[in-house]
Amino acid sequence: ELGYFTYDPGYLSTASCSSGVTFIDGDEGTLLYRGYPIEQLAEQSTYLEVCYLLLNGELPSSDELHQFSRIIKEHSMLHEAVRGFYDGFRHDAHPMAIMVGVVGALSAFYHDATDVHNPEHRKISAHRLISKMPTIAAWSYKYANGQPFMYPKNRLSYTENFLAMMFGVPTGTYEPNPTFVRALDLILILHADHEQNASTSTVRLSGSSEANPFAAISAGIASLWGPLHGGANEKVVIMLEEIVHSGKKVEEFVARAKDKNDPFRLMGFGHRVYKNYDPRAKIIREMCHKLLAEMGGENEPLFEVALKLEKIATEDEYFIERKLYPNVDFYSGIILRAMGIPLNMFTVIFALARTVGWISHWNEMMQDPESRIGRPRQLYTGYKERNYVSIENR
Ligand code: SDX
Repeated sequence: ELGYFTYDPGYLSTASCSSGVTFIDGDEGTLLYRGYPIEQLAEQSTYLEVCYLLLNGELPSSDELHQFSRIIKEHSMLHEAVRGFYDGFRHDAHPMAIMVGVVGALSAFYHDATDVHNPEHRKISAHRLISKMPTIAAWSYKYANGQPFMYPKNRLSYTENFLAMMFGVPTGTYEPNPTFVRALDLILILHADHEQNASTSTVRLSGSSEANPFAAISAGIASLWGPLHGGANEKVVIMLEEIVHSGKKVEEFVARAKDKNDPFRLMGFGHRVYKNYDPRAKIIREMCHKLLAEMGGENEPLFEVALKLEKIATEDEYFIERKLYPNVDFYSGIILRAMGIPLNMFTVIFALARTVGWISHWNEMMQDPESRIGRPRQLYTGYKERNYVSIENR
């Protein structure tokens, strides 16, 4: 069952590494986590179980899952001095800026296990990162809103804990809405890993110098922040709101996206690898329908515009020719917005979800005895050798 894919030399020449974590067939629209189809994991698994699968390569037994869940709960607190980091940021700091800084700084607190060649150290760092990301993310939301930080509660599940730390307050008794918990858990599953995307390649390249895992993950968070990558979910909602508030027809925006002289692009459309429908977009589209129906928001203007945009774009020659289909970011923002999660937390949630993918790839690379520092080469396009000219003669 292992490694049963064969590649043509053209593809091989572009491959940056070999990996057994995730498989994508962009033409078929296939996505496998350790061999399991994303559709089956979305339907039957939980994010924490998917974390175990990506990290260890196999689905856990019930005892293994219970043990893993206990360990992740154990590490969910942050060193109390980390709280002080937040006070150093402006209140209007983007939560992604806070996340880059705080995660990078964790190596100053958890230096008892940073021998990257020690499997036990790698395991502890992986557990610490997976378990602390919800706390770091929720605290960046609390800080931006001037609210007291909430601590994780062991009686809650991983996803319930994140929502409770986001929306709970000391004076209240917040109980996460089960529909929101399921919707968010699904979003986390769908964003957990995606082969050698820009941020995962960033983690692998920075980790290949034997930098500590917290620094490597911080680099991945910074790369994910870009609007062409993880920042797209935030931009999709901004685009949909622009269309709704413009009072103009959706067709006008589609025409702009096709106009070479207009920098406007349809955010949430297109993909570096998928030249077929992103399988995650299909799954998340159904969840969007279900959640909005349950909340009575089916006529939510943003969702209506999204469906209209999707229909027009997927029937339009320009998009069909270029194989531009809706990607996972196209619907995730609508769900997060419906759950009351603010726009500037969308990419933070993507980073939270992707941490397990990043650290699984990092671990796979570091456990390979043949692993060497990454050193991409270039095509030089500069001057041929020439002699120095003194300033008087310039
Ligand atoms: C993610 O890599 C991953 O796996 C990423 C990700 C993950 O899980 O890690 O899947 C997550 O990043 C999803 C993508 C989110 N980004 C967006 O939705 C931003 C909008 N999409 C685009 O900017 C673009 O489609 C990219 C960046 C996603 C892909 O860029 P490509 O493959 O380099 O495409 P391209 O720029 O070469 O475009 C090819 C053509 C161009 O037209 P022509 O020059 O051929 O005439 O398609 C056009 C582009 O102008 N085009 C678009 C378009 N995307 C590409 N035209 C309008 N709207 C768009 N969204």
